[in-house]
Amino acid sequence: MSEKIDSLLQEDRRFPPSADFTANSIASPDLYERAAEDRLAFWADQARELLHWHTPFTQTLDWNNPPFARWFADGTLNVAYNCLDRHVIAGNGDRVAIHWEGEPGDTRTITYAQLTEEVKKAANALEALGIRHGDRVAIYLPMIPEAAVAMLACARIGAVHSVVFGGFSAESLRSRIEDAQAKLVITADGGWRKGKVFPLKDAVDAAVANDASHPATTVEHVLVVKRGDNDVEWVDGRDLWWHDVVAGASENHEAKPFEAENPLYILYTSGTTGKPKGILHTSGGYLTQCAFTHKYVFDLHPETDVFWCTADVGWVTGHSYVVYGPLANGATQLMYEGTPDTPHPGRWWELIEKYGVTILYTAPTAIRAFMKTGREYPQKFDLSSLRVLGSVGEPINPEAWIWYRDIIGGGKTPVVDTWWQTETGAIMVSALPGITSTKPGSTQVPIPGISVDVLDETGKRVGNGNGGLLVSTAPWPSMLRGIWGDPERFIETYWEKFDFEGSPNRRMYLAGDGARLDADGELWVLGRVDDVMNVSGHRLSTMEIESALVSHPIVAEAAVVGATDDTTGQAVVAFVILRAKQAEAQTAEEAEAILKVHVAEQIGAIARPKKIYIVTELPKTRSGKIMRRLLRDVAEGREVGDTTTLADTQVMQVITDKLK
Ligand code: WT7
Repeated sequence: MSEKIDSLLQEDRRFPPSADFTANSIASPDLYERAAEDRLAFWADQARELLHWHTPFTQTLDWNNPPFARWFADGTLNVAYNCLDRHVIAGNGDRVAIHWEGEPGDTRTITYAQLTEEVKKAANALEALGIRHGDRVAIYLPMIPEAAVAMLACARIGAVHSVVFGGFSAESLRSRIEDAQAKLVITADGGWRKGKVFPLKDAVDAAVANDASHPATTVEHVLVVKRGDNDVEWVDGRDLWWHDVVAGASENHEAKPFEAENPLYILYTSGTTGKPKGILHTSGGYLTQCAFTHKYVFDLHPETDVFWCTADVGWVTGHSYVVYGPLANGATQLMYEGTPDTPHPGRWWELIEKYGVTILYTAPTAIRAFMKTGREYPQKFDLSSLRVLGSVGEPINPEAWIWYRDIIGGGKTPVVDTWWQTETGAIMVSALPGITSTKPGSTQVPIPGISVDVLDETGKRVGNGNGGLLVSTAPWPSMLRGIWGDPERFIETYWEKFDFEGSPNRRMYLAGDGARLDADGELWVLGRVDDVMNVSGHRLSTMEIESALVSHPIVAEAAVVGATDDTTGQAVVAFVILRAKQAEAQTAEEAEAILKVHVAEQIGAIARPKKIYIVTELPKTRSGKIMRRLLRDVAEGREVGDTTTLADTQVMQVITDKLK
């Protein structure tokens, strides 16, 4: 690892912004100066400039009870009003909010006026179903405009949404519904993916079914959008069609103001235990930082730009840069339902040409997959509309960065690598395209108003040229406000490592990433330092997959590691010990196949292991902790490292012999 990093840090290519770009750039260097002078005043200015407040706030940050921050706490606003009504009132109702393209090629064009009307109707429909301020609503939808409408309708009435990625299984959906005690689920019959309809309603039926092992569900209604036209089961009284309930609702709905700290959403993400964490975000601070970063990191010119963030709304990137950031800024965007290679490997590039996309925001995994398929596909299309390219979700290797700039960006567009997390709510570290001289592979500098640092284990700053743990050193507007229902886990996970005795308000936020500062003091994020994997820019927990594996009756023990993978960054590799009887009953190949299916059923297809090794031993320390480092060596085909701390030093020999 460290050799690889050292060679990365030799990277000396620099791409200063062109004079043309800088001349029309939204950002100017004084942003950094203003933020450095008075960070809180800077954020207060941004909140006032970028948002409409029903009641102006007088207090910027309340950090008297760290780590529970309150931003703009005495102000009130309505998040949906900020994303919709005010643009219509300002005369921009005819501006396209969403160009939507379904995977089969069907399209919808939705203006701000139309989106506002649709959200008002949906808000009335939710209220008619008894959804009130503070109630939780689970959303399990494909990438269709109703996903944004459903989220905004919740925001409009002060309900809290919990979007669950459509690729998660019924089991994962159930645990999220139960944890948040959702009253309503909004789903679709199915959606399009890889040329086929995948069912969603079936999973909801299973997730809310009451049976011996599950208590009565809190879900009162299931609201179903018709998209896939696939057959669905129907429970009269509980299930309702979106087109019946929403289409018939009134289009008059007043957006009432809520406190800035009103909960906006819960989004579950994997941690180091088997149980996902419900990350809680609130309203005013979150929307401020989403709008600010969307405007400045992407150099947004809302009258002329067509923005495309390729993330699914099931992930935080889809929350902040498909829904809240772009709509708060009155941007025009593209939303696409399907996969990049359906029906042909050039689909994305065709869409960019068709809609004249100017800003593209995607993940390194996608870029590396396109590199493999070949440049001939993007080169068939006119991509000259593109002027800013963004990357997110995992470290981008310089080779992919250069390919992105050259092949997709015609060798001229700035590439911004943005570091942030579900917990941070919005971008924290990134170049600003009209200002920063970009550096392939580095995420570079904190955005104005944000402070991060790299510390060693004892909490000392490592300084330039060194690596350590990435922290945020001061509260920021879009920071998570907690873990749903678990304040202790919130404190333990993020705030206890670097707690300055006697000075609790100097607590620092531990991101869980390793990072290095280069000679210029710019940041290189190296990846997770905990038992969290990053597969295709999606966060998966080794523990969660291990518990899914051991929940199968044939499994005695399991260990999971993230092994380096050329395309997906990391891939899930499992080592499994079968129960004695089972080991005889089937071959390793059979067991591997059964368990891959099982993990996909338990968590979702994204967690399906790429490889499962059936073994008879696992390497453990004397205290019984699995040494994943050694398993990673095996999974990545390396010579096995230092085994001296193993309880049984022979065990790695046994494993490697068996796998030969
Ligand atoms: C983890 C957060 C942020 C939205 C998508 C993922 C990794 C994220 C970068 C980047 C290197 C990155 C980190 C982080 N990560 N962006 N630009 N360079 N690593 O959100 O699921 O909450 O995952 O993704 O490891 O901790 P998430």
